[in-house]
Amino acid sequence: MKILVFGSFNIDKVYSLPRLPQQGETLYCENYEIHVGGKGLNQALAFKKAGADVVVAGKVGKDGDYLTDYLEANGVDTSLIDRSDGFTGHTIIEVEPGGQNQMILFGGANREITRDYCDKVLAENADADLIMMQYETSCVEYMIEAAYKAGIKTAVNPSPYVKAVNSLPYDKIDFIIANESEGAGITGEKDTESIVRSLCALNNGKVILTLGDKGSIYSDGANQVFVPAFMVDAVDTTGAGDTFTGYCLTRLIGGDSPETALRIASAASALEVTVTGAAETIPDMKAVSEFLKNYPV
Ligand code: RIB
Repeated sequence: MKILVFGSFNIDKVYSLPRLPQQGETLYCENYEIHVGGKGLNQALAFKKAGADVVVAGKVGKDGDYLTDYLEANGVDTSLIDRSDGFTGHTIIEVEPGGQNQMILFGGANREITRDYCDKVLAENADADLIMMQYETSCVEYMIEAAYKAGIKTAVNPSPYVKAVNSLPYDKIDFIIANESEGAGITGEKDTESIVRSLCALNNGKVILTLGDKGSIYSDGANQVFVPAFMVDAVDTTGAGDTFTGYCLTRLIGGDSPETALRIASAASALEVTVTGAAETIPDMKAVSEFLKNYPV
């Protein structure tokens, strides 16, 4: 299975705080770490750890070797990554005990991607089984349209949610994978059932809605599956959604039932949140299988 991840590559600067700060407040930070990150990079790693062959496309700056070296060391094909004279994207991530976070995102090179680059990436990956996108790069809308014309399946994680996400061509997206607040933003609905129904109406089915520590839902419009989350002691929830995305789609495209795919993806993200960081803490399939042995169906 070949997955093309068209996405963002960020350097994550993670600050552990006693609690998230309020406006105008200064807090002492108890721990500071630098990690590889970005939704594109994290999802690429999750697809890879779940067993897919992964090619990444996107742009890094002059300080981007840290990210490309990490991807290469983990068996991801980075040969198409473009380079900028500017800075790589980065995030400032504040984490409080229990794992909840808030972020400041500097797009950097992620926002310099051009249509010509998208055309080149697609021309070289016509054999991809899926193109995975998020909303941290430029040209997402163009890439969806171009992939549709080229007959390549698409999955979009409309994250982070901003108003512009509402005008994506959802009827040309095969899989929408979103959390509840993204789903609410896109559909204008408040309750879970209505969000799922409205998302399905947008793309004619194949919607995955993640509900944090409550679980996740898959719907193809006609049939719906809910799988509860595994209860673990979360330390840092950064990257949980990306882990879920890579695992869930790898398993679905590989032919698993939605219930099995959601269960495996939930186990992978449960393991991921027990350690600080995002990409580096995504478990491999062996660890996920071991974890699931403790939770027989
Ligand atoms: O989804 C988590 C990611 O969001 C982080 O790695 C950060 O870089 C932001 O892109």
